[in-house]
Amino acid sequence: MGVQSTILFVADPCPRVRAAAASLAREPDYRVIVAERGGDAAEAINDAHVDLILADVDMADCDVIAFLSRLRFTHPNLVRILLVEGESCAGLNEALTRTAAYQYLTKPLQAEQACLVVKRALETGELARRHRRLVRELKIGDDSIFLQSKPPAGARDEASHFERLVYASESMAELCSLAREVARTDLPVLIEGETGTGKELLARAMHFHSRRTSSPLMAQNCGGMRDELLHSELFGHKRGAFTGAISDRLGLFRAADGGTVFLDEISEVSPSFQVSLLRFLQEGEVKPLGSDKTMKADVRIIAASNKPLKQLVRAGQFREDLYFRLKGFDLELPPLRARPTDIPVLTEYFVRKHGGLLSNRVLGVSNDVIEIFKSYRFPGNVRELENEVRRMVALAKDGEYLTRRHLSPALAALRAGAHDRLVLKADGKTLKEMVESLEGQLVRQVLEKCRWNQSKAARELGLSRVGLANKIRRYALAEGAARAG
Ligand SMILES: Nc1ncnc2c1ncn2[C@@H]1O[C@H](COP(=O)(O)OP(=O)(O)OP(=O)(O)O)[C@@H](O)[C@H]1O
Ligand SMILES: [Mg+2]
Repeated sequence: MGVQSTILFVADPCPRVRAAAASLAREPDYRVIVAERGGDAAEAINDAHVDLILADVDMADCDVIAFLSRLRFTHPNLVRILLVEGESCAGLNEALTRTAAYQYLTKPLQAEQACLVVKRALETGELARRHRRLVRELKIGDDSIFLQSKPPAGARDEASHFERLVYASESMAELCSLAREVARTDLPVLIEGETGTGKELLARAMHFHSRRTSSPLMAQNCGGMRDELLHSELFGHKRGAFTGAISDRLGLFRAADGGTVFLDEISEVSPSFQVSLLRFLQEGEVKPLGSDKTMKADVRIIAASNKPLKQLVRAGQFREDLYFRLKGFDLELPPLRARPTDIPVLTEYFVRKHGGLLSNRVLGVSNDVIEIFKSYRFPGNVRELENEVRRMVALAKDGEYLTRRHLSPALAALRAGAHDRLVLKADGKTLKEMVESLEGQLVRQVLEKCRWNQSKAARELGLSRVGLANKIRRYALAEGAARAG
């Protein structure tokens, strides 16, 4: 069963706060995260999908009012509840106004009262969400507008999310459901995938779905680092262990004790460092540089690589034994071009994330743009899509729709080349080969025009459905497949 609502407490974990957190956590539908410092709260909001935040306005290290009022804009659906000293406390009204809080509770926190208010607040939040969705579906818009229009049946999928990962495709749904299962175990995990496919986001989501949530998640990029430095970052060092080591250093493995260490770009570590890592994975022992004592550290390793490790093992560049140790479980994030159904939901998510859908700055995105995105290769994957959308939102004027005009030149050009022109070259090919190439291109064009509705395309081409299916196979045509881009 999936977790339904996540509640974040930002408060000094005094017995009363603990009691309230514990009684909410007893409900099967709630997950509770307690952040003892403002910094931890910001991190939890970044990595986990939080539905409600209950925050003490008097945190020592953080201006909670400012933090919550920023969240109003970055996370508009997040319900906010304040914990204040007393009803008569100065500035209460101003705090309520600035944060647009749903409610406030007074100290000392009463567990039972907190539970009731949290429950009611989440119900209200859910009702508001449903209301917004209905209103949007009722608005009958121009068919060429993708956002804010009533989608043709089955054409637009609902967005799902695993913490901050957003998706709608089957392949991501399967991957995330597997990742949720694996997160609960203590197995090391290896995440592979091209650059920008969301490996780090997935690692963070898994940490927040494990029993290690309340211990730290520490990330280390292993690329481009000297062995000595990497060793000291991960295993720590004693003062004077090398020039520049002016004091003792704990090292990430021990700093994250009880939690998770994310090792990014694992393919880049040197052969000798691979040996140290292997020893750590086998024994769980940490020996700081310059020390002769070994210490234990209980951490779960999640490693990521954008180069296929198996190939590096075959080429003798990565130790096979370490590869198998790291891959207690392996998860592969598909490139964006292989999951075109994620493009509409990701686009909508990024428009919102970058402020486009706030106070109607941008009214929506044209279908044209979505189609261009679906036909582009996206070598930089989701990161590249996000950058493109951010740029478009920045260029758009208030009250506009995002259209082709806002696309960066590379993408705007792609459309003209991809759809409207057939490429015919007589360079040494036989007539039969040229005719086939033309046939493949024409079939693709009609399929795209019909949005891959095969019955419709078959009708238009004067083929039977089986005939069309044969052509699709013959010319290896696939929806959203890579094209010159
Ligand atoms: N499914 C997704 N939903 C929302 N945002 C995503 C998704 N996938 C990636 N992103 C965003 O794309 C960017 C890149 O993601 P991330 O850093 O996790 O990729 P990566 O696979 O670690 O890339 P690299 O190999 O280059 O380090 C981030 O800004 C992240 O927020
Ligand atoms: Mg990364």
